[in-house]
Amino acid sequence: MTAEVITVLALVAGIVWLGIMMVSAFRNRSGEEIPHNLRPGIDDQQLETRRLERGQKAAIAFSAFLAVSLPLYFLAEPARQEGFVEEFDEASVERGEHIVAEFACFNCHGPLGSGGSASYVEKRSGVTVTWAAPSLDDVFLRYDEDEVNFWITFGRGNTPMPAWGLAGGGPMNEHQVNDVVNYLKTIQRPQQVIVNEMPNRIRFELARLEGADAAVAAAIVRQDQLVAEIDQAPADSEFLAPLAEEASDLLETAAEGRDTDADRLSDVTETRLSEMSVEILGYFRAVEPIVLDPAAPDAEVLEGVLEELRGALDRDPILVNYIGAIEAILEADEGDDTDEDGISDAAEAQINAQITEAAGATVPSGLVQVALDPANPASAGGQPDLTTATTVVGAIESAALSKRVLVDNEGRIRPAEEAGLEFLLNAQRSRTWVIDIAGVAEAMGATEEDAARAVGLFQTNCARCHTAGFSAGIPYTQEAGSGGFAPALWDGRPLVQFGEAPEDEEEVDLLVDFLVNGSMAQRPYGLNGFGSGRMPAFGALLAEEDIELLARYLRSGVLDGIE
Ligand code: HEC
Ligand code: HEC
Repeated sequence: MTAEVITVLALVAGIVWLGIMMVSAFRNRSGEEIPHNLRPGIDDQQLETRRLERGQKAAIAFSAFLAVSLPLYFLAEPARQEGFVEEFDEASVERGEHIVAEFACFNCHGPLGSGGSASYVEKRSGVTVTWAAPSLDDVFLRYDEDEVNFWITFGRGNTPMPAWGLAGGGPMNEHQVNDVVNYLKTIQRPQQVIVNEMPNRIRFELARLEGADAAVAAAIVRQDQLVAEIDQAPADSEFLAPLAEEASDLLETAAEGRDTDADRLSDVTETRLSEMSVEILGYFRAVEPIVLDPAAPDAEVLEGVLEELRGALDRDPILVNYIGAIEAILEADEGDDTDEDGISDAAEAQINAQITEAAGATVPSGLVQVALDPANPASAGGQPDLTTATTVVGAIESAALSKRVLVDNEGRIRPAEEAGLEFLLNAQRSRTWVIDIAGVAEAMGATEEDAARAVGLFQTNCARCHTAGFSAGIPYTQEAGSGGFAPALWDGRPLVQFGEAPEDEEEVDLLVDFLVNGSMAQRPYGLNGFGSGRMPAFGALLAEEDIELLARYLRSGVLDGIE
């Protein structure tokens, strides 16, 4: 605005000056005169008065103009610069958003960076796990801009987080990483919202510890199933291969022969494909997806289902989950029982859901039952039959192919899956993830409630870096504070690094101070620590009492509560 005013003023001044020049030129032209250089000069009297004064006046006017306009310009400058930066940032944020979409950051980090997970082959076990990926919509509460930039550029070794910057061997140049950082700044949620979520996250982590044995058992069952599928692969492949070939032929010749509904699939093709889909599901299913009727006694039907499931356990160990779930429903069963068959109405509904899931659990993905009607061109969900048929044939072919791959690569796949199973069985025996809250309370000299809170805080905020295997899941989690990506914190190491808490409340507790501020790159900390800037700051995330509680927990030296 002011810049414009100044421009206008300068323009006006320029025009006025031009005007004066022209007027004086015209004046001089009146009448023939002797040229200037041939005329006698003006006398001193005149030079020292009128001429001089005129010159002085002009100089004063010009100085006054500068005196007013320069400060005005100067005052306007920061705003002009800011406007420039703002425009620049907006473009950068927009580019960052595109890059984040292109490289699918949120596939791992959750929708809008709210936290998610990635499929990853865990290094020690060779098992494919679901690795937790931290939220990015609060990352600036933990890290400053340079630190976030660092993680994006270099990634984090031995985790699913790849290096994205050229310097780390990734595809993005520095500007692009900057753009991503600028974009991330715009998706940060308010601090208070994040802080308010902490109690829930702590509860979640404590519940996860309680459910640990069940989680490990479930992981073992999944791994068992993978091994069983290798055992079963030759038979499955032998069964599927001819069907896949036939299905593909059927689709190729679909245009030949009678086609009642004129949907470019012959009647023969429609009928045979439907038959095949039933045959294939019948082969893979351990049980038909039958439905218990709360109004008709079906205790015997259920007994039959359970028997079938148990009988198929060798082929499909995963079924143990559904048998267990149905047994648990029966165990806890009470409530209205309309048909008086000893299974309540509510339980029948729950059991139906389990049976449906069990029926699908052993079928290779994509294989579905279809009923194509030769007299209806869109017999499945309004979709053209040709589309349905193409999908079904594709699914049969890819199931056949994946069984073939298992058979052909058994020598490589089996030892790997069996080693994974061995790892999990070992984990089940050693239970390194266990944290005994009572033991922690004793070591801390605190109530069990405080001990549980300290453990919850640690698991929620610290374990992913300071406990090996934590992000891969319970079976892979080593002893609390064992050190993984970051230094070990067990055995009271923080006590060595930062000393005892000061007796005097006024004095700074170095450990608390470190947790509040995190580490700084190239700066020493504690007794002999040297910071890399990778230890986050927790001052903006955790209440002071919580940080003090964590410090007490770390100093106690018995992070898992087991001496
Ligand atoms: C394949 C999954 C995956 C993708 C894709 C991915 N990340 Fe990550 N990222 C992770 C995981 C997992 C971690 C945590 C690693 C660990 O366990 O220490 C992580 C950590 C981070 C961190 C450190 C945060 C912290 O608090 O420790 C930042 C920042 C980050 N990612 C940004 C990004 C950005 C930006 C992109 C896209 C350009 C991206 N990530 C893409 C999986 C992924
Ligand atoms: C994103 C990973 C990460 C998280 C999360 C994390 N830290 Fe750290 N921490 C580090 C790294 C890395 C260091 C080593 C210092 C450095 O490299 O700057 C460290 C160092 C420390 C140290 C000093 C250890 C020593 O002996 O030198 C303590 C104590 C500590 N962290 C406690 C915690 C606590 C408590 C939490 C949770 C509230 C936590 N950390 C969360 C990465 C992390």
